[in-house]
Amino acid sequence: MTDTRAACAPKHLDSSDACGKSNDRQLLQLCRAEDVRRAGSLRVEPAGVAPLAVFHADDSFFVTEDACSHGDASLSEGMVSDGQVECPWHSGAFCLRTGEPTAFPAVLPIRVYPVSVKDGFICIARPVPDDDVYANGTNADRV
Ligand code: FES
Repeated sequence: MTDTRAACAPKHLDSSDACGKSNDRQLLQLCRAEDVRRAGSLRVEPAGVAPLAVFHADDSFFVTEDACSHGDASLSEGMVSDGQVECPWHSGAFCLRTGEPTAFPAVLPIRVYPVSVKDGFICIARPVPDDDVYANGTNADRV
């Protein structure tokens, strides 16, 4: 069977980065890095924030919104390979680094968040309601 997913090369983030590089926005501690390493992916539900998916793949951590852009599936339950997560419902796929869809029927991107690891915890800047941190590839570089 031929893999029809678009190419997606994950960016390797330095897991030693401190959480303090987030333009003074409040940091959100999501979960223990070790728990994600062990599980591969986790769904986290921070207070006041839509559920997030935390992934460990290719020796890097990634955080995305948990909801698939095609339906109500939880991406944290999807299969991860080649820097992409495959939705468990209809096999749409997304690049973990950029959030761009890489396989039909997913056609809309998902949000991705720059990740830092501090004191063994996965951190992101706390999302705000009109957050422009969308999956366009530029946010993944602002760690
Ligand atoms: S709900 Fe994710 S591809 Fe359909």
